[in-house]
Order: sequence, then C-alpha cells, then structure tokens
Amino acid sequence: MATTSTPLRRLKRALAITALGFATSAAFAHGDVTPQAVDTHTLKALGDTWLESNPYRGDKEAIRIGESAFTQNCARCHGIGAVSGGIAPDLRYLPAEDEGDEIFIMRIRNGASRNGRVYMPPFEGILQQEAMWAIRAWLETVHVE
Ligand code: HEC
Repeated sequence: MATTSTPLRRLKRALAITALGFATSAAFAHGDVTPQAVDTHTLKALGDTWLESNPYRGDKEAIRIGESAFTQNCARCHGIGAVSGGIAPDLRYLPAEDEGDEIFIMRIRNGASRNGRVYMPPFEGILQQEAMWAIRAWLETVHVE
C-alpha cells in the first residue's frame, strides 16, 4: 500500500497549509499596532484605583474624546464606528451598562492572547484609565441590542 501521496493525504496537507496561511496573515495584520496618546485633561481625573463601572457614562466630553481615541487605537481591528469588518468582535453588541463595562475594562487592560498568539494587545500602561472609560462612553452611544 502506498504510504505517501494518496489523494486524501494530499487534501489534508493542502487544508493544513491553508489553515497555516490564514493564521500567519491574521498575526501579520495584527502586528503593526502603534498606540496613540489620548488627551484626557478636560475629564475628571480618576486616580490609580481601577474602576469597575464607567464614571463617564453619558458625559458629552468623554464621548467626544472616546470616539477619537477609538478611531486611533481600536478601529483598525474593530472597524470604523465600531462596525466590525469581521477580524474582531463587533463592539456595538457589547452589553449595555455595568455588565458591558466589566467585560470592556478587563479586555482593554489585558488584551487577548491564546497559545502565544496575540489577538488583541493589552492597553494597560499604554492608555490611561481616563482614555479607556472615554472609549467605553462613546461605545455605549453606538450600542445595538
Ligand atoms: C490588533 C487588533 C485589535 C486591536 C488594535 C484592538 N482589539 Fe479588541 N479585540 C481584538 C480581537 C481579535 C478580539 C477577540 C479576542 C478573542 O478572540 O479572545 C478583541 C476583543 C475585544 C473585546 C471583547 C469583546 C467581546 O465581545 O467579548 C473588547 C471589549 C475589545 N476588544 C475592545 C477593544 C478596544 C477598546 C480597543 C482599542 C483600545 C481594542 N479592542 C483594540 C482585536 C483587537
């Protein structure tokens, strides 16, 4: 019996190579993250303790800053206006209010990595807490149930 290139083996190998190709291009697309500084001096300062719910919910100035901060730091993966093009979750569907706040702050601080691959970079130490909650304040204005 032939042990090398049966049609099934060839098919399996082709599929494996395709999967590898997808993984590599995804890693590449996510590799060029250059975080942008966000000016939050017009917002109430939040101090060093991490909050669990958004102190700026509904705040006009925070929403204004948050939209621009999102466009500069998140839109390349999550899409302009938070309308996802498919490479990252559509953040308009993040739950509203405190439930969504909790998911949001955990994810933006820690990012997302699995098996040594970075799907989303951590923003703790890069964006201030003020900028993070400003982004969340804007995100809630485009929320979809
Ligand atoms: C390099 C691409 C990339 C960038 C930049 C990025 N993200 Fe993500 N984000 C992802 C991916 C991919 C996931 C899904 C992670 C997973 O599969 O575990 C994700 C998940 C999330 C989630 C969780 C969504 C859910 O439904 O649970 C939130 C919240 C989030 N990102 C917010 C942000 C914010 C805010 C920014 C900007 C400060 C940002 N992300 C920047 C790629 C990115």
